[in-house]
Amino acid sequence: MSSRFLGRLGVSQPLVLAPMSGASTPALVAAVCGAGGLGSHGVGYLAPQAILDDAARIRALTDRPFALNLFVLPDTFAEDEPAIDFARATLDALMEREGLAVRTSLPERWAPRFSDQFAALCEARPAAASFTFNLLAPAQVAELKRRGIAVIGSATTLAEVRAWADLGADAVSLQGAEAGGHRGSFLHAPEQAMIGLFALLRQAARAVDVPLIAGGGIMDGAGMLAAEVLGADASQLGTAFLACPESAAAQAWKDDLTRAQDVDVATIRSFSGRAARGLRNTYVEAMAAAEPRLPAYPVMNALTAPLRRAAAAAGRGDLMSEWCGQAAGLVRPMPAAELAATLLDEYAKARQTLA
Ligand SMILES: Cc1cc2nc3c(=O)[nH]c(=O)nc-3n(C[C@H](O)[C@H](O)[C@H](O)COP(=O)(O)O)c2cc1C
Repeated sequence: MSSRFLGRLGVSQPLVLAPMSGASTPALVAAVCGAGGLGSHGVGYLAPQAILDDAARIRALTDRPFALNLFVLPDTFAEDEPAIDFARATLDALMEREGLAVRTSLPERWAPRFSDQFAALCEARPAAASFTFNLLAPAQVAELKRRGIAVIGSATTLAEVRAWADLGADAVSLQGAEAGGHRGSFLHAPEQAMIGLFALLRQAARAVDVPLIAGGGIMDGAGMLAAEVLGADASQLGTAFLACPESAAAQAWKDDLTRAQDVDVATIRSFSGRAARGLRNTYVEAMAAAEPRLPAYPVMNALTAPLRRAAAAAGRGDLMSEWCGQAAGLVRPMPAAELAATLLDEYAKARQTLA
């Protein structure tokens, strides 16, 4: 069955590859597009030119519609110096204890400037653009629409769904509490905004008329059909694609996912200063007591970036941010095109069984 929203974009299957900053790649996006779904690329960590370069790489691999995704952030950030000093001392001590030869440093910028990233995204002109962490300004929504780019807002609560619908989003992507990666919450504290996908989807389906894309813990065709039955226009899967060879997740992260159990997945603030779902590992346990005193996103994220890179290079999954959703244990390490085809086949068979 083709989705109301995706059908308008020229996408034939109700499958969206979740944007995954640090893990999605042009090859992963193109594989999902090739299977008939909508591939999304998380470009929130990329500088403007890199966004343009990745869009060109996707276009070199597929002529199908795709989406780009950004974190909506202010252009400048508050710098809490005592928190920064505390974080650096705590991280450096941990790395020394763990034998990782890397120390924190102060970056040139805490994160790329959002307004420059937004301009690059407009220039790249994907078929759709999705946004998380906050709402866009009305003028930015108008600018995207003027360029023919469909706007997808991310929401973790009913109020956030309504806010995007009121802003004129073409679709709203629901991030259930099960979902991997950073919590997109912007109207409520993350701990208040942990609404399970079932609860969020039914409430949103009754409250708004805008097409809904369901995300959080969906790992197979049965999950996709369940989301559709509950009122979703399409399903957005992130964790399911993390262990594909095309994913940029480090090998140690991929290996740990295949062994993950539901109880291993926690909400973690210590890697980036913002609540995110991932595996509880050595780093998470060691930093738990320090969490309340760490700087906010994106400062903490920038401070831990060199450590996370060094951990990946050393094969130390236990010191990396191993983002994943609560159903990570169902991950299937196979080429992305094969996984997308398998998902769509399972979905079609589940539909037949239900009919
Ligand atoms: C590694 C990883 C990175 C993510 N990065 C982003 C991102 O850059 N932008 C975004 O809107 N969502 C991001 N997400 C959240 C996904 O869009 C989506 O909500 C989630 O993957 C759905 O749950 P699932 O992981 O259980 O499939 C990320 C998720 C993961 C696992």
